[in-house]
Amino acid sequence: MHVIRMLRSLPSRQVVLLIAATAFQTASLFAQTNNEIPVLQIKANQITGWVSPTLYGLMTEEINYSYEGGLYGELIRNRTFKANTNEVKYWSATGGAEISLDHGTPLNDALNLSLKMDASHASKASPAGIVNPGYWGIPVKPRATYHVSFYAKAANGFSDSLTVAIVSTNGRTTFAKAKVSGLTDEWKKFETTLQTGRVSPSKDNQFTITTTSPGTVWFQEVSLFPPTYKNRPNGRRPDLMALLAGLQPKFLRFPGGNYLEGDHINERFDWKKTIGDQAARPGHRSPWKYWSTDGFGLPEFLGWCEDLNMQPVLAVYAGYSLRHEYVKPGPNLQPYVQDALDEIEYVTGDASTKWGAQRIKDGHPKPLKLRYVEVGNEDWDTNSDYDGRFAQFYDAIKARYPQLQIIATTKVKSRTPDLLDEHYYRSEEEMEAHALDYDSYPRTNHTKIFCGEWATRVGSPTPNMAGALGDSAWMTGLERNSDLVLISCYAPLFVNVSDLRPGGSMQWRTDLIGYDALNSYGSPAYYAQKMFSTLHGDEILATDSQNIPTEMWQPPARRRNGVEQPAPPPRQIRKIFFDATRDSASGTIFLKMVNTLGTPETVKIEISGAQSIAYTGIMTVLKADKPDDTNSIQEPAKIRPATEAATSLSNDFTRTLPPYSVNILEFKTR
Ligand code: AHR
Repeated sequence: MHVIRMLRSLPSRQVVLLIAATAFQTASLFAQTNNEIPVLQIKANQITGWVSPTLYGLMTEEINYSYEGGLYGELIRNRTFKANTNEVKYWSATGGAEISLDHGTPLNDALNLSLKMDASHASKASPAGIVNPGYWGIPVKPRATYHVSFYAKAANGFSDSLTVAIVSTNGRTTFAKAKVSGLTDEWKKFETTLQTGRVSPSKDNQFTITTTSPGTVWFQEVSLFPPTYKNRPNGRRPDLMALLAGLQPKFLRFPGGNYLEGDHINERFDWKKTIGDQAARPGHRSPWKYWSTDGFGLPEFLGWCEDLNMQPVLAVYAGYSLRHEYVKPGPNLQPYVQDALDEIEYVTGDASTKWGAQRIKDGHPKPLKLRYVEVGNEDWDTNSDYDGRFAQFYDAIKARYPQLQIIATTKVKSRTPDLLDEHYYRSEEEMEAHALDYDSYPRTNHTKIFCGEWATRVGSPTPNMAGALGDSAWMTGLERNSDLVLISCYAPLFVNVSDLRPGGSMQWRTDLIGYDALNSYGSPAYYAQKMFSTLHGDEILATDSQNIPTEMWQPPARRRNGVEQPAPPPRQIRKIFFDATRDSASGTIFLKMVNTLGTPETVKIEISGAQSIAYTGIMTVLKADKPDDTNSIQEPAKIRPATEAATSLSNDFTRTLPPYSVNILEFKTR
């Protein structure tokens, strides 16, 4: 058993001395031994700062089939046939048709190949055609309208209609079908709708296009959209958007992450190739090793922001790609700087600007409010002269957009960034051990912080309760210090859980929200985050504490330059975390308390500096029996917050926090 878990199973605050022999070392481990009740003190007349109004936001990228096969409504996998330009991927033939990639019959320069279907033996008795399995299935829902579109041209005198359909994978049920006619020997776009009846929801289905007449047909950009959130054309998946809306996020950091950078410079998020007509987007390979059509491009990121009322936090490509390819500062970098300026204009410009006008053309009439621009992502490669590259971007952006706040991805000396982006992926114990770190950051002249990627990486594909506890401990620190930490976001947000084998639908274990083609769920960490992001005030109140239980923790040994370093000495870490904020308008205090121990912990809450405290309040609790309890696609709601009335509140009262629990107590004060 893991030592910390073993300690948790022992009675709380009773003397415990254990000698733990591990493969690496022997260490003495102590649980805190103190029979006094933990005291959480709130000084209601001392405001230490203001909760940043943009503290909680979202971050994701094209990873784990987050957009294609996830948030992006498109149901057809490899709709442009470019996932592999040597062989047909994710499409098959039916009824004796033969299919191949045809590089000689492109739709245009962007979609520079097509799928050729030779259906020379098609007949009424034996229709022939092409089949797409979707992203691990095609979701069928009752009484739903699906929008079909594709480009096609024909040869050999083919003039019959094509039948598009959603059918069960076993071929027994046709859920919806429609005919499309008018093919010629020129490329043309065809559109129709498919309407399902009173069917049960299912996902083991596929999309087919068939003919009953012999002939040759070429296809490009074959698309199938279900109903989307707010019925946006080319829009987003409603259930995932509803989960995100539940977080009330204030910003979206996009497009990445590694996805911004790409493995190679020509695989970066080249935003100008992700705008305009869908059929004009060439697509690109993501660093997470699969193809992106870029159907979910810059305009769609903006639509996502608009739908959830989020500010964009725009990460601009800064001349560095992951295989250590980089552009030196100076004239060679200038085109990339110009691209960033143009991108900012696309997001914020009005109709009189070139790129603002393009955004309007792309369906987003209103300029978006932009405050933060991030230059690059994790530019830690010391050979890549981030300092020089950052300075060039910083000067150009500030000269044209002095109001923008510029975020650096690592420390720089050449300029003073407005914010510094810090990333933390940690175990539960590491999160707890570092939960108080920001308390000691100096406030004078300290660069503000963007905690742009963080997560307790426990549990897979989505975090379990231990993950939620580590996250919550960490979030008490973010919130208590949100005068300094202005923006923060968990990463990654999404994982398609359909195929968890290597090479399947997950590239990064531990992601906030899981889904398959049909269903989705929030992890315990999702619910913890929802509690934090929706229940807080605007004033940070001073707090103090006594008798907080602790445990001895052995920090992990790190590797430096491939060499394992000696393990740092063990240290005591707290096991109860809390912070308090107050809504200045209503006087409501939000007291967040996290009990990471496996025992109920009674805490004394002392409130000073308030004239009066309401006798009753509301307690919201997220808890689990075991730290590795979790939600899943089969059991989506095993762990969810529950709300109960809290009574007998005063300026000095006790509460018992359940084992493994995140608790938010709301109560009115004057
Ligand atoms: O969130 C997953 C990856 O972690 C991001 O792409 C990258 O920025 C970080 O290393």
